[in-house]
Amino acid sequence: MAIANRTETLAPSKENAASKIARHATVLSGQLQQLRTRMYPPKSEKMLRQFLTNEVSKLTSIPDSTLKLMSSEGRGPVPSRLENNHRVYTLAQINELRELFAKQKPAEALRFLPRRRPGEHLQVMAIANFKGGSAKTTTCVHLAHYLALHGYRVLALDLDPQASLSAMFGAQPEIDVGANETIYAALRYDATERRSIREIIRKTYFDGIDLVPGNLEVMEYEHETPRVLAQRSGSGAIFFERLKLALAEVEEDYDIVILDTPPSLGFLTLSAIYAATSMIITVHPAMLDVASMSQFLLMMGDLISVLDESGAQLDQDFIRYLITRHDPNDAPQSQVVAMLRHLFGTDVLLPTAIESTAVEAAGLAKRSLYELEMGQIGRDTHKRAREAVDAVNEAIVHLINTSWGRG
Ligand SMILES: Nc1ncnc2c1ncn2[C@@H]1O[C@H](COP(=O)(O)OP(=O)(O)OP(=O)(O)O)[C@@H](O)[C@H]1O
Ligand SMILES: [Mg+2]
Repeated sequence: MAIANRTETLAPSKENAASKIARHATVLSGQLQQLRTRMYPPKSEKMLRQFLTNEVSKLTSIPDSTLKLMSSEGRGPVPSRLENNHRVYTLAQINELRELFAKQKPAEALRFLPRRRPGEHLQVMAIANFKGGSAKTTTCVHLAHYLALHGYRVLALDLDPQASLSAMFGAQPEIDVGANETIYAALRYDATERRSIREIIRKTYFDGIDLVPGNLEVMEYEHETPRVLAQRSGSGAIFFERLKLALAEVEEDYDIVILDTPPSLGFLTLSAIYAATSMIITVHPAMLDVASMSQFLLMMGDLISVLDESGAQLDQDFIRYLITRHDPNDAPQSQVVAMLRHLFGTDVLLPTAIESTAVEAAGLAKRSLYELEMGQIGRDTHKRAREAVDAVNEAIVHLINTSWGRG
């Protein structure tokens, strides 16, 4: 493969560290762009697979037999046929089925179409922990996919300059996300450049999920906020209220907003915690990670009391710890899990995100387990991992439903 801009890689004889790093950044970014064009040509955008009748039945609680009957009688959305003649539905068609059944059986409408009803508030969930690699992004993606597959309307918001969540949704931070197209555009302090969050929300290939992408630009918020605070300059609300206010603009369009936060406790993470109506703290059960989480909690506690003093109201529906990358056969991990459960009781979610090569392999291909077809990864491995992830997501959905006053 030809190396892009080879001449640029030759360092000038005298070069200081800053210009060297800037030069490396340019060269690397150019190379990545070339690679990406080759691996994902613009035409081959990410697409969601289709779902077999038995999967659709599980997702919608419409019996297999009803789906088959409807299809042969030509009622409802028309599924495609695989080579082996099996019926497959797109997620858009699954959602059509939901609407159809909710209309036909109003008494059971909620079962088919679980979207929030009048009086049920937008659930804004922050996934946080400043320990890197605690599976925040993986948790966000799997939860977003699970919710959308079950008929909820989701906004996924990437607050991390690394933008791995955006990448999972096919928005390569380097290439597909331009200037003033991240959440920073809606938060920034200069009124002339600020944009409505509505303008930066994009549709994704995954029906029911919209995205506010991130990239390095979101770091500007970390740099600008202290300056604005010191100079008492900048237009609009104080830093921690800005995200909440931006989300209020699109409140009606979604059931759940998922905030993927960076592995740091800066102004973005604080804004997320303030905007959130609930929080999941992901924790890998290793001593070092737990020590780091302890620091995180201490700092967060301090910062929240500072917010409290400035009149901010933090009133979350629930905060839970989620054990991630859990290996139940690892004795030291089991000790840590037992300790967390002993200390925090039911604040630690009962189901855990089991460590699995299926999640890892799917992640490398920028996919969730829900996007893989059975057989792409060893059947048993896939099934076990899928059951574990489902159990975690089910527990979270239960908490959401409870927050809406559903029994
Ligand atoms: N259950 C799991 N089994 C195996 N690998 C996992 C699992 N969950 C996450 N991983 C892997 O662990 C790595 C870190 O996960 P992820 O990116 O979700 O963490 P993060 O907390 O978002 O990291 P960061 O702090 O950098 O944002 C990824 O390579 C991911 O594929
Ligand atoms: Mg992440």
